[in-house]
Amino acid sequence: MGPAGRAGIPDRGPGGRAAADGAERALKIAVTADPHFDLRARCEPGEFLALRAAVFAARPDVFIVAGDLVGLGKIHLPAFFDLFADLPALKLAVPGNHDLWLPAGDSYRYYREDLPEISRRHGFRLLDAEPAILDGVGFVGSVGWYDYTLADETLELPAGASYEAKRCGGGRWNDAAFVRLGKSDREFTDELLARLEEQLTQVEARVERVIAVTHHLAFPEMRAWRRDTPEYRFFAAYLGSRRFGEMLERHPRVRYHFSGHVHAPSRLTRGGLTAINVGSTYRAKRLEIVEV
Ligand SMILES: [Fe+2]
Ligand SMILES: [Fe+2]
Repeated sequence: MGPAGRAGIPDRGPGGRAAADGAERALKIAVTADPHFDLRARCEPGEFLALRAAVFAARPDVFIVAGDLVGLGKIHLPAFFDLFADLPALKLAVPGNHDLWLPAGDSYRYYREDLPEISRRHGFRLLDAEPAILDGVGFVGSVGWYDYTLADETLELPAGASYEAKRCGGGRWNDAAFVRLGKSDREFTDELLARLEEQLTQVEARVERVIAVTHHLAFPEMRAWRRDTPEYRFFAAYLGSRRFGEMLERHPRVRYHFSGHVHAPSRLTRGGLTAINVGSTYRAKRLEIVEV
């Protein structure tokens, strides 16, 4: 990794691994999501040792964590990063909605200022703050968010329910209690879309292969949620935004999109784009490995 605060887009990670003759060589990329490391007591015993061993065994050029690293237990974030302190790879992350949870205070400021700095101090680059390029492959990313464009189309909102208030009957989407952005979900989503588009434009000027990462979903087909009550069907609105997927499809250099959040693995293709939801659960962590 480059030193903290380095300006611009670094185009070499550890070791500078481009082929000497300039020919394209495949990069190996390992991706996990939803570690929820502060809740690791809910995992199968040894799960994080196994995840760590799998990452090291894969010998990836790039290791990516697609959000929900921790929740209210922010104190555990450095310990999660430090599991991979000795990994000789470019280490990237985007936060998840849980990473924006605070018991009090300004989640937006924490997202924009504190999280990138904490990540940098522990050897990870937060893609939201800065894209990356390694050996001709660009990496862009965002927490992603929701603008209710993934809401269950067949749900008639019960009286008193409101997507903005995140309440439906006795159900509440807990971002309402722990995330304070100082702006609406739609405004935040618009802002993130604009920033991601800017990152795409920036890296596409330099590379032909791009990997995009968002914690929240970008495609409606990846929605996975309980449909047995109106309250659970209501929660589909908070899974992501289809506008991220529409944007990625307008950028043919994006080869892969990785997401998390729904804790159910899935995969789809759109032309030259493969979208993968990693699908770690609270009990078991998953690792996706691709070469690009
Ligand atoms: Fe999660
Ligand atoms: Fe999440």
